[in-house]
Amino acid sequence: MSMRMVGAVAVLVAGCGSGNGQDATAIEPDLVARGKAIFRHDTFGDETQWTDALRLHEVIRAAVDPVTALAVGLKVDAEALPPAVTKGIADGSISLTSPDTTVALLKLDAVVGLKATVESIGGKDVLTRVGVTCALCHSTVDDSFAPGIGKRLDGWPNRDLDPGRIIALSPALSPAQKAVYNSWGKGRYDPRFNLDGISSPQVIPPAYGLAGIARITSTGDGEDIAYWNRYVGVTQMGGHGTFTEPRTGVSVTHGTDDLISEKLPALQAYQLSLPAPAAPAGSFDPAAAARGEAVFRGAGRCADCHSGGEFTDANLRLHSPDEVVSEPEPDGAPGYASRSATKQYRTAPLRGAWQHPPYFHNGSARTLADVVRAYDTRKSLGLSQAQVDDLVQFLKSL
Ligand code: HEC
Ligand code: HEC
Repeated sequence: MSMRMVGAVAVLVAGCGSGNGQDATAIEPDLVARGKAIFRHDTFGDETQWTDALRLHEVIRAAVDPVTALAVGLKVDAEALPPAVTKGIADGSISLTSPDTTVALLKLDAVVGLKATVESIGGKDVLTRVGVTCALCHSTVDDSFAPGIGKRLDGWPNRDLDPGRIIALSPALSPAQKAVYNSWGKGRYDPRFNLDGISSPQVIPPAYGLAGIARITSTGDGEDIAYWNRYVGVTQMGGHGTFTEPRTGVSVTHGTDDLISEKLPALQAYQLSLPAPAAPAGSFDPAAAARGEAVFRGAGRCADCHSGGEFTDANLRLHSPDEVVSEPEPDGAPGYASRSATKQYRTAPLRGAWQHPPYFHNGSARTLADVVRAYDTRKSLGLSQAQVDDLVQFLKSL
């Protein structure tokens, strides 16, 4: 069987029942609504990993006050807070330096991406189980109430979140394991480390703006979103079900039940319904952006790959690592593509790029100006400073 065939079979097996719908317009509202609830609140039974194995519930209830939780980038959904609680936080009568407040927020289902079971034991609320949801990494809040507290913004990557530091809080890990997780930093996570033992974190990407794109992840491993949702849900979150990928030899099963397969169509529909956010008015110079578009399509040769309405040729082809400007990895690790199923990179879609620095799979470009300078140098484009500046304004406008 050819690699292509193997891939197609893997997608069929892995994305079973997901349909091939990457078209946002074809999606039913009921399915989207269900997918939203799954995205925000469903753990697929991953408490087995976060509670039974990692014992994070013990750490949270003993030592994680809201100040600490916000410091590791966790976000609070202001709309889940009753008026008495918002008032108490605003006037200081609710302590943000007590782990009990964290448990109270968890009980209200107000901590984005964490799902808790809180039981009354001896007259006191005790956190007995905790799991994580997709929203942990792929939602943030608009800070409308206070920094870290506001309305949910689903699909926006949480680049304040330090997933490694959260995992490293676990009393079940060795000092060596903790050192690896603590090294990743904010907004980064290595979704293959626990399988191939290589630590080289990826920036958490947006889960918006993916309608019409039939290659998912920075290496285009999946032909639909559901493929990767199953991968992360089972192999990273520890949800109950199975993920099998012959191209990498990854085969993971958790539990004896399947709490994920049936949810994937709705989960995918919800993500396809999330548009990339438009650039805020005043955040770029329209005249310079118009000149920059000419550079993008002309001297910069960007449109050779960033083509079409989503600014990607992902539906036509992937690119070998020697065509991209983001390898070698900044930390000396093997190229990320070499660890993937395709061994190649997908041209990143650019809508909403203004929203999610740093850039490239490994975050090696801090700003859009750094991106343009990387291309100018590595591809010997010979752009003038004015062309660079205009191109940056165009990228900011998308
Ligand atoms: C611990 C953080 C974390 C959690 C939890 C998580 N993801 Fe991700 N997600 C990532 C990272 C890191 C990547 C980048 C992977 C890559 O490109 O190889 C990613 C990639 C993706 C992509 C691909 C985006 C693109 O541009 O193609 C989608 C979609 C996505 N995740 C959705 C989800 C959903 C839905 C869930 C819940 C089932 C989930 N993620 C759970 C960290 C996370
Ligand atoms: C050979 C094809 C190709 C060309 C030409 C190309 N790109 Fe890219 N671009 C890619 C690929 C592939 C990625 C993803 C690389 C990665 O994830 O590390 C990418 C990533 C990016 C990103 C980062 C997006 C993100 O979400 O992190 C930006 C911005 C970008 N390119 C802009 C440009 C500009 C501006 C030009 C022209 C100067 C250009 N590209 C030329 C293929 C190309």
